[in-house]
Amino acid sequence: MIEPIGRIKNPSLRVFANAGIGFTIVTIISSLIIGVVKSEDKSAFKYGIYSSLFGTAAGGVLGFVGSSKSSDNNTSQKLQDSHIQKDDKNNIWKDWRNFVVVRKVKESESITSFYLEPQDKGEIPDFKPGQFLTIKLDIPEQPKPVIRTYSLSDYNQSGKYYRLSIKRELAPPDLNVMPGIASNFMHDHIQEGSVILAKPPNGKFFLEVQKNLPAVLISNGVGITPMISMAKAVTYLNPQREVYFVHGARNGNYHALREEMLMLDQENPHLNVHFRYSRPTAEDEGKYHSQGYVDTTLIQQLASQEAEFFLCGSPGFMQSLRDGLQTWGVPEDRVFFESFSKPIPVASSAQTPVANEGEGVTTAEITFAKSGKTLTWNQEDGSILDFAENNGIEPPYSCRAGICGTCMCRIKEGEVSYQEEPSAAVDDDSVLICISQPRTAKVVLDI
Ligand SMILES: Cc1cc2nc3c(=O)[nH]c(=O)nc-3n(C[C@H](O)[C@H](O)[C@H](O)COP(=O)(O)OP(=O)(O)OC[C@H]3O[C@@H](n4cnc5c(N)ncnc54)[C@H](O)[C@@H]3O)c2cc1C
Ligand code: FES
Repeated sequence: MIEPIGRIKNPSLRVFANAGIGFTIVTIISSLIIGVVKSEDKSAFKYGIYSSLFGTAAGGVLGFVGSSKSSDNNTSQKLQDSHIQKDDKNNIWKDWRNFVVVRKVKESESITSFYLEPQDKGEIPDFKPGQFLTIKLDIPEQPKPVIRTYSLSDYNQSGKYYRLSIKRELAPPDLNVMPGIASNFMHDHIQEGSVILAKPPNGKFFLEVQKNLPAVLISNGVGITPMISMAKAVTYLNPQREVYFVHGARNGNYHALREEMLMLDQENPHLNVHFRYSRPTAEDEGKYHSQGYVDTTLIQQLASQEAEFFLCGSPGFMQSLRDGLQTWGVPEDRVFFESFSKPIPVASSAQTPVANEGEGVTTAEITFAKSGKTLTWNQEDGSILDFAENNGIEPPYSCRAGICGTCMCRIKEGEVSYQEEPSAAVDDDSVLICISQPRTAKVVLDI
């Protein structure tokens, strides 16, 4: 009985409600007892009054207990909420931390999810929906640990785990090369109970949840991962915001996290979900909204131009959508995208200037301070990362495209020029060596 009363928000009202219930119950019970035991006694009414007063007092005490219990519940709910909203600097760990795979779930023919909890059972920081986790795997026969980045594909309110949803990368059909190293290892060898290393969440591709401009989340294939996180975060934290979730898949067999999105759709009246299949099978009947490839024409049918657009998917898909949105007149500063491989070139006229483009030197002396090597770099040596590797230095890296920040290192002297605009957040005194070359004749790096 205290439970529903505990839901009354005003604490004084809760106390009175409990007192009233206590009064009623004790009065009824004592009247019955007095009626049976003292049916001849003329002063029985006195006992009735005493017991009613006792009932009121007992009800009040119960009211307080109920109130404090329910306010405890409210506090813990608030704590939960604050966990997902708190400053993401909280609980950030340095470098690598052990995470246990607590659940492994096959989501589609090619994508499997891994739920990670910290082995030390400590807290994990919140992240911005769209950000990624960098993981490190010790893979037998690989000369060094393999580092890869994976978008966080969930936005849970418990704040207890991270989820990664990883696509098994096959070898390209026209090339005689190894299939993807990390993704296949995750699918085949990482099981529930396995431990992997991870860096804190990171990345500049994220949705600012509290904004009110409609958000159009457009993905294909495994590009669905950051979009799910964004759709969930808005549903939990700013449910009034209009969100369009447009996803393209080959067919139902390759459509990961379909049911999860449909459940979210049910939960959030401001979420509009559209699935488009390019090659649906007979079993897919009734499970998708339209057939073909996701393109700007579809987006124009579903959403208004007055929105923010988030893109993640295959390079061709993103290029055509970026071009299409630009032709439609969507300003470039309302289009955000994440590339899982090398970034696509910026669309024609609205080109973002590349930092220091064309201002580099053709030869330079690079000192790799920690490795104790000073070497002469020439332009044909390529990026500083390529140059380091070719000279027996093995800096960590993942994307080799300026997206993940894994290769970031401190620059102690000199300057570098970027071959592409970095997508990763770069610390003030640091550089990304995978997409940079020396800009000054002498460069000293803390590697
Ligand atoms: C910010 C970010 C977020 C990401 N999020 C996700 C995510 O949520 N889910 C996800 O699945 N992935 C994601 N990725 C991609 C992920 O980081 C890996 O790049 C991906 O899993 C492939 O890694 P791998 O080790 O399996 O493949 P790799 O070993 O890196 O190989 C990649 C491909 O190259 C082929 N290949 C191998 N050798 C050659 C060669 N000599 N010539 C040509 N091709 C070759 C392989 O067969 C394979 O197809 C993300 C990437 C970034 C940058
Ligand atoms: S390796 Fe990813 S930013 Fe350089």
